[in-house]
Amino acid sequence: MSSSEERCRDVRHVAIIMDGNGRWAQQRNRPRAFGHNKGVDAVREAVRAAGNLGIKYLTLFGFSTENWRRPSDEVDALFELMKRFVDADLEKLHKEGVNIRIAGRREGLSGDLLAIIDRAEAQTAGNDKCFLTIAFNYGGRDEIVRAARRLARDVKSGAIDPDAVDENAFAAYLDTAGMPDPDLLIRTSGEHRTSNFLIWQAAYAELVFLDVLWPDFSAEHFKAALDEYASRERRFGGVNAA
Ligand code: IPE
Ligand code: IPE
Ligand code: MG
Repeated sequence: MSSSEERCRDVRHVAIIMDGNGRWAQQRNRPRAFGHNKGVDAVREAVRAAGNLGIKYLTLFGFSTENWRRPSDEVDALFELMKRFVDADLEKLHKEGVNIRIAGRREGLSGDLLAIIDRAEAQTAGNDKCFLTIAFNYGGRDEIVRAARRLARDVKSGAIDPDAVDENAFAAYLDTAGMPDPDLLIRTSGEHRTSNFLIWQAAYAELVFLDVLWPDFSAEHFKAALDEYASRERRFGGVNAA
């Protein structure tokens, strides 16, 4: 058994910042949307690899609340790809027992995308073989603010006592409610930042930055990230036995 296979038993949740589509396209003198298009194949590869590696929770960053700053034709292309991906792969993922969830702000999404998302979530809600979350129109700060707003409403209505608000109670208001925190956060493309992704949940995630551009991401890169994870010592603020 390889070290990544041994180690992945301890890795319940992997989150990935899929970065580098634009540069991949630019290197080929093609428009950025060409890179996003190719990036969808890498998404499929990542989902397959996670399944083969026995990883129960996979969370992928597809569109950030800051990505609205991009040219509108690029934003349109990303929305179109999201729709097409969920539409095309839903039946297959459902048959494989994948539970699909979309994290992120619903406002700003078109009616047809919302309908596809709702269908995917409803159809796969009973699945528990693995859990695929796509963060779309997602920002960590936005998620926390939305959670705080809902919590404030529940406090105001008397549904929850302010003294009962602890970390667990708060986390239940996040888009990731019920999910374990990510153990491993991977970012491709060589950038060393988290860009507002899972800022609450990844407080103690191991960060692995890979030099590959997202469209070139393969199962081998996934395994390499798990090997890197295996070499880390997680302490959670404590002291490990010598
Ligand atoms: C990641 O690739 C996809 C999204 C952010 C939606 P980028 O589009 O950020 O590619 P680079 O970073 O410009 O190369
Ligand atoms: C983060 O990548 C968002 C996604 C991968 C969806 P960006 O490319 O938008 O991040 P920055 O702008 O380089 O920080
Ligand atoms: Mg980028």
